[in-house]
Formats: sequence, structure tokens, C-alpha cells
Amino acid sequence: MDNLNKSITIKRLNDLNTLVSLSKRRGFVFQSSEIYGGLGSCWDYGPLGSLMKLNVKKAWWQAMTRRADMVGIDASILMHPMVWKASGHVDGFSDPLVDCKNCKTRFRSDNTDSYLNEKKCPQCGSQNLSEPRQFNLMFKTHMGPVEDGSNAIYLRPETAQGHFVNFQNCQQSSRYKVPFGIAAIGKSFRNEITPGNFIFRTREFEQMEMQYFVKPGTDEKYFEQWKETRMSFYLKYNINPENLRFHPHGPTELAHYAKAAVDVQYKFPMGFSELEGIHNRSDFDLTQHSKFSGKNLEYFDEANKEKYIPYVIETAVGCDRLFLAFMCDAYREEVSKEESGSEDTRIVLGLHPDLAPYKVTVLPLSKKEELTGVSEKLRDQLAEDFDVLYDETASIGKRYRRQDEIGTPFCVTVDFETAKDQAVTIRHRDSMVQERISMTQLNSYVSKKLKNF
Ligand code: GAP
Repeated sequence: MDNLNKSITIKRLNDLNTLVSLSKRRGFVFQSSEIYGGLGSCWDYGPLGSLMKLNVKKAWWQAMTRRADMVGIDASILMHPMVWKASGHVDGFSDPLVDCKNCKTRFRSDNTDSYLNEKKCPQCGSQNLSEPRQFNLMFKTHMGPVEDGSNAIYLRPETAQGHFVNFQNCQQSSRYKVPFGIAAIGKSFRNEITPGNFIFRTREFEQMEMQYFVKPGTDEKYFEQWKETRMSFYLKYNINPENLRFHPHGPTELAHYAKAAVDVQYKFPMGFSELEGIHNRSDFDLTQHSKFSGKNLEYFDEANKEKYIPYVIETAVGCDRLFLAFMCDAYREEVSKEESGSEDTRIVLGLHPDLAPYKVTVLPLSKKEELTGVSEKLRDQLAEDFDVLYDETASIGKRYRRQDEIGTPFCVTVDFETAKDQAVTIRHRDSMVQERISMTQLNSYVSKKLKNF
């Protein structure tokens, strides 16, 4: 079944729909509330997707917090309404919205080509359009049982404000000196006018954000350092460097809080688009929170006996968007040609093993008790160290392909020799090479292979 020793052509992903259907078929991502017809732009992570998403978060969290100059935080989604006044989100976090009076489509006017070039509706081409008006992207709700203006509250549109309002709590409790950073992973909400492209732009999403507090004047140096650090993160997890680039923001693109900004862009099937934002936020946020809260948020530098409001370098990436980038980059179709001329296609999700939902799958060669009993025990043995699957249905070839498609780095086959030699066959996802390994050595073998993948 496997393609060893055949000529192989590799096809990469060129259409998001291929990934959407693989995600549904194999249990990565489902449309939210599907049995009710779905809810626009909302997605649920299934059995494989939830595992992989945890792995994506773990990779980011470890890269950020296993440093001597970083602490973590888990702030609440609901914050004091004044936070959003101070941050500028109440007055400035909006997109220009246009209504088509002909087909009733609503769209963002600042990134819609048909509107920017010809003042036409992207849906029906009509020019019978409203003037653009600013639409605030924050979701508003009420705290407590009475709904009136006095208890209006927002779902946070970014996790970053939790870092700023806790700057002093984190600094004083950890006794870290500037420069140091605060990292967090959490849900954010934006009432996007035009969500889309699967999990690329949604209204509910998870962010992984880090604020690095530095002495004013050193900000440009740290901005450059963080650009390099973040790029090397993507390379470590095997994203093809040709699919990554920096996009510096011009003056008209800069967010209201930013002194300088650069996006890390990834080449998604719809083209290069923002994956992560890296911003020099200057002292904007801490100064604003000082003003609005009345609390002095200056940092006292004991060594130099000086006080200042730190500048902030921010790195911000969407977990869902990164998940999508990893999936897009890992997807490949290996098309092999038989001598007879017939073709065979192997779909492989070549994920870095740290990100793959399962590291190993145990496959008994037959459903006979003689093999399944040992296989189930082996599954439990491996599960002490790894996320493991067990699969006894269909032919061995089909089962290998199923695992290739979900990115499992190793398959372990228990066969009729196992009882005699106490060994199993381990098959490698990418090379399809097979080796015979003793069952007692299996955990340490897999562990070593995963570490040096
Ligand atoms: N605190 C800064 C900030 O939130 P941003 O560029 O607006 O900056 C950071 O967002 C990252 O969050 C983006 O690069 C993207 O990965 C992710 N993100 C933003 N809006 C999103 C959405 N509607 N859906 C999915 N991810 C989103």
C-alpha cells in the first residue's frame, strides 16, 4: 500500500475548502450549532482539534514563559467599563460599515476591492449604497439582572488590557525588574463586519498576547529583538520560511496606540495575510490607565533611582489563526505513479509532533483476541507518556492512511510474531520506514524520536 520506492509528486494546499472538509471528516473543526443550520463565523473544535489547539497553546506558552523575564496571567473577560474608555476602544475601535440598499448586504468599506475601486457592492454590484459609518466592534452586554445603560459592560476585544491593569500587581508580586513581560492566553470577542475564511476571522477567538515592559529609549531595540524571536518560533515548528514574511505598517495602518508595528504574515490559500501583530505601544496604555484610574503606574528603577512609565512591546497572535496556519502548512498530497500508470494519493498532515493531536496509534493486525489483548495493554503503556489512539477497524493500509491524514507521527502494529518476540513494528509517518522494536523499549524509543524529530 505505502509509496516506498515510487516516484512521488507533492501537492500543497491551494484551497481552504479542502481543509474545511478534512477538518469535519476527521474531527478537527465543526461548524458551531450545525444541527440548527450553524451560527455564522462560530466554530467548534472536535476530538482532534481540541487536542491540537491545546498543543498550539502549550507551544506558545512554553516559548513565552520558560524565560527568566516573563510571568503569566489569566485575566477575566469582563472588565471595568472604564478600561475600554481609557484604552481608546469605546471611541476608536470601529470599522467603516456600508449598507447596500439593493441586496441589503453589509460590508467593510476599507478592505473591499469593488468598493475601493468602483464604489460598488461586492455582492450585487449595485452603486445604491449608504455612506460609510463607523461601527464599534465591541460586544456589549449587561452585568446583573437589570438591563440599563448604567450597567453596560463589554466582552473584551483583546486580552492585552488585562496585562496593563495588572502591571503593578505582576511586577510587585514577582519582584521582576524592567525589562520583563506578561503573557496570557484567552478568549476575545469582536463583532466583525465581515468574518470569514473558516477560522481565520471569527467573532469569538482566542488570543495569545505578550506585553514586554521596557525602559523608554530601549523600545526600538526590544521591538527588533521580539520580531526575530517570534519569527524563530514559527521556524522551530517547521513552517515553511517561504510562507512567512514581515509586513511593516505604514502611517495609515497604525493602530491608535502604536508608535510602530509589523505584522508577521503567512501565505494562506487566500494569499499573504496577518498571522501575528508586533507593536511598539509606547507608554500609551499605562499613561491612559494612570489618567483614568487616578493610580500612579510609574515604575521605580532602584538601580538608577529614577521613575518612569515603561514602554511596551506587544506580540499578539490568534490561536485559531495559528492553528489554521499550521494546518495549511502541514497539509500535503503525495501522488505516486504505479508502473501501470495508475495514480495513488496519500494525504499527510506533516505536523510537528509537538502539535499533532496524537503521537502514536496502536494497530492490531487482526481483531483476534490474541492480538487485541496485547494491543490494548500496549495502548495503556504508551498512554502513560503520550496521547495515544487505538484502531482495529479496516485493513492495515487504510488505517495507516487514516493516521497520516491526522498527522500521527508513529503507528505501532501488533502482529502474530509479537507473542513470540515481544516486539512490534513501528512505522514513521513521513518516511513510511518500518522498524521492529521491543515492547519494553517502546516508550523510551518514541520519546527520543519525538524529541529529535
Ligand atoms: N492587542 C493587540 C491586538 O489585539 P490585533 O492585530 O488586533 O492586535 C492580534 O490582533 C491577533 O489576533 C491578530 O494578528 C490575529 O492573529 C488575531 N485576531 C484578531 N482578530 C481576529 C479575529 N476576528 N478572528 C481571529 N483572530 C483574530
